[in-house]
Amino acid sequence: MEDNQNVKIDAIRRQLSACGQSHLLSFWDQLGPAERAGLVEQIRELDLDRIPTWVETLVLHAPKTPVGHKDFQPASSYGIAPATDAERRKYEDAVKLGKELIAAGKVAAFVVAGGQGTRLGFDGPKGNYPISPVRNKTLFQIFAETIKAVSRRYRTICPWYIMTSPMNHEATVRIFESNDFYGLDRGNVLIFQQGTLPNFGFDGKILMADKASIARSPDGHGGSIRALARSGALADMKKRGVQYLSYWQVDNPLVKLFDPLFIGLHAIDGAQMSSKAVIKNNPKEKVGNFCLVDGKMTVIEYSDLDDSLAERRNPDGSLVFRLGSIAIHIISTDFIEKLNTKGFSLPLHRAVKKIPHIDSRGNPVEPAEPNGIKLESFIFDALPMAERSIILDIDRAEQFAPTKNATGVDSAESTRVMMVERAAKWLESAGVKVPRKPDGSPDCLLEIAPSFALEPEDLRAKTDRIPPIQPGDRLYLGGT
Ligand code: UD1
Repeated sequence: MEDNQNVKIDAIRRQLSACGQSHLLSFWDQLGPAERAGLVEQIRELDLDRIPTWVETLVLHAPKTPVGHKDFQPASSYGIAPATDAERRKYEDAVKLGKELIAAGKVAAFVVAGGQGTRLGFDGPKGNYPISPVRNKTLFQIFAETIKAVSRRYRTICPWYIMTSPMNHEATVRIFESNDFYGLDRGNVLIFQQGTLPNFGFDGKILMADKASIARSPDGHGGSIRALARSGALADMKKRGVQYLSYWQVDNPLVKLFDPLFIGLHAIDGAQMSSKAVIKNNPKEKVGNFCLVDGKMTVIEYSDLDDSLAERRNPDGSLVFRLGSIAIHIISTDFIEKLNTKGFSLPLHRAVKKIPHIDSRGNPVEPAEPNGIKLESFIFDALPMAERSIILDIDRAEQFAPTKNATGVDSAESTRVMMVERAAKWLESAGVKVPRKPDGSPDCLLEIAPSFALEPEDLRAKTDRIPPIQPGDRLYLGGT
């Protein structure tokens, strides 16, 4: 037994030495059996063959972006409203088809929730962040109630796939269990984990978190493509007959989870991966930019788009690269399956971060300044691999309020303001009077539960259940 283990560890030692990472076993002699087994497992998870290339191209040197391509054009999109009669008919057909697909159980919800959410400064999975303006419901609860309301409306099952990471998986499962899955049938909620990637020091050496574990971080939302297959989620979808995944990020409580128009346009056009977009409100808004690079749909992150391109304007003054990604997609399950064939990988992006670790003597280091590189892949890098991909513009006030920071732009504060404003608009469209302050903002707190209305039209039939709203009121509309 002992001999066998020695042979195994010798082989691992040789592999590590070949890729310049022998130090991962520096403390081997001090480890107990369970720690040794854990460390071997973590080393096995490393893509050792690729590490030297990552070190060379991503860790030791920052790659130049955007990389040399021949042609760089803005992408085109379907507008919020149809522009022509023919398009109007297409939108109508799409809505009809989208509804049929939802009712037939062909569409599942898929949220990526494996991020570390450091900017928000919230302890625990971001989905547990209380966000709704009156009842303080968490992001997870809002999504769950929406899924329940959609399932009820279409008399169908809408399965929900949730991607976590090893850093927040157990906590996420505990949250769902202690909330009894927010009233959803737990058999239709599948929580699975994404993979990790090692963290590197600036010298190209993988950092150790402690003597028995490698410093790692989630492999980015792009890791979902592989994780869907590895976890069995994709097989589960096939068994259920799910053909489309409605993908969104955990930070956006305004997301329209099952949008018949979006699903229908994607299906009619035979797309494999499609996206929703907002018209950017300034050249450097912190969203990805939809571009056609050598004819392929591509998202270029705000930080990677050259200023000269970001600022470029059309003769009418509008931005040339005006379509901003809000990280909402429809992804066909066939496409995910195809991507998971042998040899698939998404490009990796580097981020310079502060990474706690141990030094060569085993002493803990809590860096005050960035000291290393985290690598991750992005889901939108799968877009150029799709044969067909469409974009649908949306009204940001209706569907996009990301909670990224504690205060200021894209914060919990701004999200709540947008949630109240959207509720006010919905109510007014149904003929309900909403008190407003001199600056036009609602002079009350409003919250409409998904069970009460999924869209403004639902309110029209329920106006008799809505009390008059007085200045300063806190109104919650719930129930079916
Ligand atoms: C993201 C997009 C940006 C888009 C914006 C819209 C990137 C790099 N940028 O920005 O193009 O315009 O949202 O709001 O994605 N996640 C995982 N696993 C991971 C990392 C992240 O599941 O390993 C999840 C997070 O839980 C979150 C989402 O992915 O739901 C977004 O991650 P985040 O790092 O917050 O992306 P942003 O930089 O805010």
